[in-house]
Amino acid sequence: MPALPGFRDFYPEDCARRNYVVKTWREVAQTYGFVEYDGPTLEGGDLYRKKNEEGAEILEQLYSFRDRGDREVALRPEMTPTLARMVAAREKHFRKPMKWFCVSNFFRHERQQKGRLREFLQFNADILGESSPEADAEIVALAVDLMRGFGFSREHFVVRLSDRRAWRDFLASRGCDPSQSQAVLACADKIERESPEKLDEKLAASGLTVVDLKNFIAAGSPESFAPVLAALEARGMSDFIEPDLSIVRGLAYYTGVVFEIFDRSKNLRALAGGGRYDNLIKGLSDGASDLPAIGFGMGDVVLGHLIDEIPAADGKRRSVAIPACEVYVVVADEAQRPNALKIVQQLRDQGWKTDFSLKPAKVGRQFQDAEGLSARHAVVVGAEWPAVKLKTLATRQEIAIAHPELTGHLEKLRAGSPG
Ligand code: HAM
Repeated sequence: MPALPGFRDFYPEDCARRNYVVKTWREVAQTYGFVEYDGPTLEGGDLYRKKNEEGAEILEQLYSFRDRGDREVALRPEMTPTLARMVAAREKHFRKPMKWFCVSNFFRHERQQKGRLREFLQFNADILGESSPEADAEIVALAVDLMRGFGFSREHFVVRLSDRRAWRDFLASRGCDPSQSQAVLACADKIERESPEKLDEKLAASGLTVVDLKNFIAAGSPESFAPVLAALEARGMSDFIEPDLSIVRGLAYYTGVVFEIFDRSKNLRALAGGGRYDNLIKGLSDGASDLPAIGFGMGDVVLGHLIDEIPAADGKRRSVAIPACEVYVVVADEAQRPNALKIVQQLRDQGWKTDFSLKPAKVGRQFQDAEGLSARHAVVVGAEWPAVKLKTLATRQEIAIAHPELTGHLEKLRAGSPG
C-alpha cells in the first residue's frame, strides 16, 4: 500500500538529504543570530479562520476535523499564525528585536503539481519587534544566504521583491473600495497562472481589469524599495534581487515588503516566500502591544528539485550520505564472540560507527558485508586473542596488535586520513 497522495516515505537516502537540508538551514540561520523555536502540529481551527478571509486558499486547503473532545482542530498549514499566537502570549518576556527560526512539517490539501505536496518541511525565519527597512533587508539577505548555503548562485535563483503598500496606494488612487483589495491582490497573485478571462470575472466588483493590474506592474519599482535595496547593495547582494510588483503573496496578513524566490531557468513554483505583517500579533491578543514583524518560509520540495537538477559548483556541498559504518568487527571464531562484543562496545563508546554480524557467518561473508557498508576498517577477532587484526579495507593493509592498543591505533589512522 503506497503512502497517501502528496505524502512522502523517507527511505534512508531521503532522510540523509533531508538532514543535509535541515542542517544547512540551521547553520545559516544561526550565523544570522536566529534562535530556534517550535509549536504544536495540531492547532485550534479558529487560529486560521480568524486570520483569513472567507474562501482564502489556505482555508480551503486546511486539514481540519473534529477531535474526540468535539473541538474543531487543524493540522498546521503554515507557522506564522502559531508564531503570532506564541509571541502574543509572552511578548514582554523577550528582548527585541526577536530573531526566531523553526524547521517544521506542514500540511496543505494542495492540488497535485510539481513542487507542491500535502505534507512538506518548511524553514521559517521571522524578526519581531523591528519595523525598519534594515530588518526587511536582514530577512531577504538570510533568504539569499540560505540559497548560497546550498551552493546556488545568481545564475540559479532570483528574489523578486515587491511591496503591498505600493498596491494599496494604487488601489486607493483608482478609487477601489478597501473591501475589494484582498480580492484584487488574490487576482494579482494568480496573474501568471490563471486566464485573463477568469481573472476579469473575479475583478469585476472592484472596477479594475487584468490590463489595469498589468499596467501597474509594468510601471516598475516604486520609491519605497530604495532603503531595502540600498541595505542589500551594501551587502553585495544586488545581483540576487529584482523589484517586481507582480509579487503580492497569497496570504492575507502581509502589510509591507513582500518577496518570493524563484529558480532562474526551470520554471518551478516558488522556493520561498514571505513579507512584513505588522498587524497580525496585535490582532491575536487583546492586551498585546502592536509588534511589527517580517519573515519568510522556505520549503524543502522545490529546493529538493533544484538540488537534484543543478550540480554543485564545488562538488562537495551536496554530499549528503553519512557512512553508516566506519569499523566492522569480524568474528572469525564464534568462541571469541564475547571478546568481539567487548571490542564493539569499546569502539562505540569512543564514537566510532561500529557494526558486526548479528549471527555466525563465514569470515569472507563478513568482509563482504563490511565493504557493502563502506566500512573503512575491519577488526578481526579470532583465535589469536588477545591479539586482533586491524585491516584497512581500501589498501588491504593489515597489522596484528594487542587489543588494548586498538583504539589508540585507530585514532592515529583517523588523524592521518584525508577525511
Ligand atoms: P508560503 O508562500 O505559503 O508562505 O510558503 C512558503 C514556501 O513554503 C513556499 O515558497 C514553498 O517553498 C513552501 N510550500 C508552501 N506550500 C507548499 C506545499 N504544499 N508543498 C511544498 N512546499 C510548499 C508561508 O507559509 C508564510 N507563512 C511564510 C512566512 C513566514 N511569512 C512570514 N513569515
